Amino acid sequence: MRKVYVIHENDAWVEPLRRQFAQLGTPFEEWFLDRGVLDLTQAPPEGVFYNRMSASSHTRDHRYAAEYTGAVLEWLRRHGRPLVNGPRALALEISKVAQYQALAGFGIRTPDTLAVVGRENLARAAETLGYPLILKHNRAGKGLGVKLILSRAGLEQHLASPEETAPVDGIQLVQRYIEAPEPFITRVEFVGGRFLYAVRVDTSQGFELCPADQCQVEAGAACPAVAPSEKFRILPEFRSPLLPRYEAFLAANDIGVAGIEFIVDREGRAFTYDVNTNTNYNPDAEAHDGRSGMATIARYLTDLLAATARAPALAAD
Ligand SMILES: Nc1ncnc2c1ncn2[C@@H]1O[C@H](COP(=O)(O)OP(=O)(O)O)[C@@H](O)[C@H]1O
Ligand SMILES: [Mg+2]
Repeated sequence: MRKVYVIHENDAWVEPLRRQFAQLGTPFEEWFLDRGVLDLTQAPPEGVFYNRMSASSHTRDHRYAAEYTGAVLEWLRRHGRPLVNGPRALALEISKVAQYQALAGFGIRTPDTLAVVGRENLARAAETLGYPLILKHNRAGKGLGVKLILSRAGLEQHLASPEETAPVDGIQLVQRYIEAPEPFITRVEFVGGRFLYAVRVDTSQGFELCPADQCQVEAGAACPAVAPSEKFRILPEFRSPLLPRYEAFLAANDIGVAGIEFIVDREGRAFTYDVNTNTNYNPDAEAHDGRSGMATIARYLTDLLAATARAPALAAD
């Protein structure tokens, strides 16, 4: 039977999607890609494939889940399977450098950034950029390694502290700190490459902004991601010249589902700094607003399954 195949490495994040598929009666199967065997001599099953691999998968002890997914996605593409968030989406998911280079092609401003390989080069990069700056991992998610550094002394102190963590791909970013007049960022959600809604996220308590329920629960009271009421607020209306640019960027990079984050500085300039192709939605904010990201994704994939049944894609081989 043709189905929707969901590729992921985190059960908890798929739970809301399971519920939506169940409501629609959509046949689906999950491919939990951490370790396994990919037989390149075989063809994949028929169906629609949706990749939800996360940049932070290595933090859940799935060190090579993203690499494994990359191999599977290439195999699916070779066989012409309908694929939402294919290899290019994954390449952007796991590299902010790749995101910024791709965004620039669509006139989307990103914060000045230096990519640093080798810890010994961090101080030089920081002097080049100037303070205050943000340190973050190239391959991140959930605010990994994000640290505001105010001065050279602050950098030295941070590098000497146990708080400093090595980026999994060896690339550390030294980035211009964008000081927002009010402590919030905006995250713009897209499904099927089209704008769904924008959510305003309060950053007054820290940089870990995962909107998923699970992170908020598991993290415990000490975690900045624990949402006080109104931490995530879906904007009833959102108009921005960024929207058509974001949609063009997503279309050109084969990204169907994404949450794109930007921050606005004192001069009113928007800086886009994060593209999440594995996107989660805040349940409380959605309950308040009425729109649902996962319901929209489930409907989109279900429609795609029906459409591709009528007009099957030709295999490339
Ligand atoms: N250049 C920056 N200036 C100001 N705040 C930033 C900057 N970069 C990141 N942040 C803050 O840190 C959070 C996490 O950073 P982000 O780049 O989104 O990493 P991740 O991919 O781990 O989510 C952002 O949502 C924002 O609140
Ligand atoms: Mg982010």
